[in-house]
Amino acid sequence: MLVTAVIPAGGSGQRMGLAEPKQFVTLAGLPLLIHTLRAFDATPAIAAIVVAVPAAEIARTEKLLRQHGITKIHAVVAGGPTRQESVQRGLAAVPAETELVAVHDAARPLVTPALIEACIAAAEEHGAAIAAVPVKDTLKREASGQMIAATVDRAGLWQAQTPQVARRDLLVAAYATAERDHFVGTDEASLLEHHGCPVALVAGSETNLKITRPEDFTIAEALLMQTTPATSLRIGHGYDAHRLVEGRALILGGVTIPHRLGLLGHSDADVLTHALCDAILGALGAGDIGRHFPDSDPQYRGISSLILLEHVVGLMHDQGFGLANADVTVIAQQPKLAPHIATMRTNLAKACRVSEEAVNLKATTTEGMGFAGREEGIAAHAVVLLSRL
Ligand code: CTP
Ligand code: MG
Repeated sequence: MLVTAVIPAGGSGQRMGLAEPKQFVTLAGLPLLIHTLRAFDATPAIAAIVVAVPAAEIARTEKLLRQHGITKIHAVVAGGPTRQESVQRGLAAVPAETELVAVHDAARPLVTPALIEACIAAAEEHGAAIAAVPVKDTLKREASGQMIAATVDRAGLWQAQTPQVARRDLLVAAYATAERDHFVGTDEASLLEHHGCPVALVAGSETNLKITRPEDFTIAEALLMQTTPATSLRIGHGYDAHRLVEGRALILGGVTIPHRLGLLGHSDADVLTHALCDAILGALGAGDIGRHFPDSDPQYRGISSLILLEHVVGLMHDQGFGLANADVTVIAQQPKLAPHIATMRTNLAKACRVSEEAVNLKATTTEGMGFAGREEGIAAHAVVLLSRL
């Protein structure tokens, strides 16, 4: 069955008490929402993802999704004043061919593809299914003044989590019934129950916690540090080549070099800086510069590539990494680059927020061989090592 995930991320995180909604806060090196979406991106049964965020956060969310290479996004929609309304708006935006909908709180970043698949399988069998864990603590009902009125028998009691998966037609009908009856619930199952649909329980996990209060953040970060690749080092390689033409400036490493030819490109065509950007993005597993700064986008026309490098370095820091060192080789027959290497190095080190020793620059000719040798173009290779900050 074709499954679409609907991720309510439209809350403001009052109980967290932070300056911004918790779903955008960095947790173990990544925005919380990205952890959640990566789990759905990595689940083979999920075909599409719809995210509902506060209306004011749509542009920022779309940028984050691009930066982090989330591939299955179908729509980013404005959430509503309650979780129920955010889900309803997400539901309205799922692809027409959707048969099952998997609703999952953005605030549960530790969900696994295995749990998502288990909930989907149970919903295929029963029509609707949710992740839940049996209550393990003894339960007390409070009388007035924080005094115990009674002990509640916990046998047969479960705590509901998400994912909550249901046939799309059932879920749409349940939301419509809730709207008609002014029924308010904090999860999909309560709406489905109200509508009269049976819902199955799937054993979830205590680690699939919902980040609600500050202490949840600490626990989730500790758990995520265990499951995210423990490697504190990342390696990356970048290669780029641009054509030499008349009537363009030759800019390498942010330095304008006097020459009768210059490099052709949408930006300033600084091939050396592009190779370095690609090496850093490669090490982050974040694709390449074409994806982050498309050459179809007029805002990048003629832009200094050092500005692009600064963006890439910002992304690297957001992901919790710093540049340990970079080694860059420029392949050019002409002109002589040696007199400019020191200034290029200063520029690149500054953009990378490291000392100059961390950035090595070399230039070579190809002794007249190949496109570089014929002065048809200039190429550059870069390798980088990143380390966890
Ligand atoms: N949510 C939503 N739209 C709302 C309220 C909540 O999409 N109007 C989402 C939250 O972003 C979260 C999930 O529903 O992913 C569960 O909600 P909760 O944990 O209560 O998050 P917040 O409402 O943001 O937090 P708080 O209640 O502390 O303000
Ligand atoms: Mg809430």
